Amino acid sequence: MTHHRRKIIIDTDPGQDDAVAILLALASPEDVEVLGITAVAGNVPLPLTERNARIICELADKPDTLVFAGCDRPLQRALVTAEHVHGKTGLDGPQLADPVMPLQAQHGVDFIIETLRREAAHTVTLCPLGPLTNIATAMQRAPDITARIQQIILMGGAYFEVGNITPAAEFNIYVDPQAAEIVFKSGVPLVVMPLDVTHQVLTNRKRIEAFRALGTEPGRMVAEWTDFFERFDMQKYGSEGAPLHDPCVIAYLIRPELFQGRHINVEIEATSELTMGMTVADWWGVSNRPANALFIGSVDADGFFAVLTERIGRL
Ligand code: BDR
Ligand code: CA
Repeated sequence: MTHHRRKIIIDTDPGQDDAVAILLALASPEDVEVLGITAVAGNVPLPLTERNARIICELADKPDTLVFAGCDRPLQRALVTAEHVHGKTGLDGPQLADPVMPLQAQHGVDFIIETLRREAAHTVTLCPLGPLTNIATAMQRAPDITARIQQIILMGGAYFEVGNITPAAEFNIYVDPQAAEIVFKSGVPLVVMPLDVTHQVLTNRKRIEAFRALGTEPGRMVAEWTDFFERFDMQKYGSEGAPLHDPCVIAYLIRPELFQGRHINVEIEATSELTMGMTVADWWGVSNRPANALFIGSVDADGFFAVLTERIGRL
């Protein structure tokens, strides 16, 4: 199967799994051209997520990557963070040096707007790996860009797995449900990687040791990050290992045939506190609401880890 190299903007709140996703993208120049990385407040506050994004680019030996700081809080709600999963820095696990490469002066939202206006229509794909604040803000501030976006491939939401931050909601959507609502109503073609699929790509001893066995610095970091990240999820779910949520977004660009889903209607709960941030996904087609997303439900996990390990090994 041939596919064209896609121009992407990665919007992210690193986060160990965001870090693995960014490494996967930077290691895959034949599949994706990373126009820039926009940081958002999410797993940890913005000063840490933009810093972590730069640490990751340096680890990939790609210090020329453009990294921007975006929004430091959700559109309407107070920021909720996830240090209980990712540690105080967001990248807890290995020792990491301070980044040397610069943060771009431009605001991340302005970069998104400017890039979509500059590049030909339908040639830029957005890859959100955190709360959707930057993307929604760009759409609100510059409505003309919405129709120019090729596709949005995002990690967020859940149907069968329901919630991870509340009983009803997945973290990225819960943190900024108003932003999510704007994105899901935007009319842009969406591909959604919910917990239903990310909970199928679990690390285990063998998979983590395969990263370590690469014998490279990035391989060792991925092993140490996933080791750290794993503890929390193993305790919580009693599962074998930790889900590599965000790398699913980039893996989809590289090997879409590994994933299977349904074109369905997905609405965001943005009113009720009890179920705030829930993705109401019409998996069974019981409403007459039009499809607005390709909602992914399954993945070939061995295929996923094979690509991921091979690509990380290039760095
Ligand atoms: C999502 O929340 C974050 O903690 C992870 O980085 C991922 O993007 C999973 O719910
Ligand atoms: Ca994330």
